[in-house]
Amino acid sequence: MKIIAPSLLAADFGKLKEEIEMVNQSQAQWLHLDVMDGVFVPNISFGTPILETVKKYSTKTLDLHLMIVQPERYLLDFQKLGANIITVHYEACTHLHRTLQQIKDLGCQAGVALNPHTPVSVLNDVLYCTDLVCLMSVNPGFGGQKFIENTYKKVKELKAMILSHQTNTLIEIDGGVNADNSQLLSKAGADVLVAGNFVFKSTNPSKTIQDLIEAL
Ligand code: DX5
Ligand code: ZN
Repeated sequence: MKIIAPSLLAADFGKLKEEIEMVNQSQAQWLHLDVMDGVFVPNISFGTPILETVKKYSTKTLDLHLMIVQPERYLLDFQKLGANIITVHYEACTHLHRTLQQIKDLGCQAGVALNPHTPVSVLNDVLYCTDLVCLMSVNPGFGGQKFIENTYKKVKELKAMILSHQTNTLIEIDGGVNADNSQLLSKAGADVLVAGNFVFKSTNPSKTIQDLIEAL
């Protein structure tokens, strides 16, 4: 089954509850939440107060993408805030194996995100600890950027790695996803497509989600 995860970063925060409810009523299975610290990435997004509102109103699987240094400091807080999947960056974790175990020990699913320049081969020895690998198809930090075409190659490489390691790891693509690349990404082996601007800035976001899913 293919999954669409609208990214709340592109929502109108002046009507946060309505935006969350739009996703609730849509065919999207997950809600993607981008936490940025202004250190790991050159932007600050949102933290605890917004996530409390999300927890209160969202009925979807909460897919938390941590673009922060030393994410291990906040894992328990995010678990309490209702995160179902916690994804940390390979580039931000000195002890990635331990961090993934900590996420699992909290009862959450564990994900690793790779920046566009990071090869998938770095995950060879931790793939068995992952429920999800997020391939960044833009440089993290901002929504609305252009999709990096090299991502297709990485999806295929990662899919082959997952098959050879026989893990159940899901492949997620994050950044610049739209109707022009969603089918190709899915065919290449992607399981989860994050879409921010393409969904929230469209005239009918719920219909945009439906069209994306039905085309996969
Ligand atoms: C980028 C974030 C993405 C972003 C995607 O750093 O991780 O999740 O919200 O937004 P779009 O789909 O607009 O590129
Ligand atoms: Zn993200």
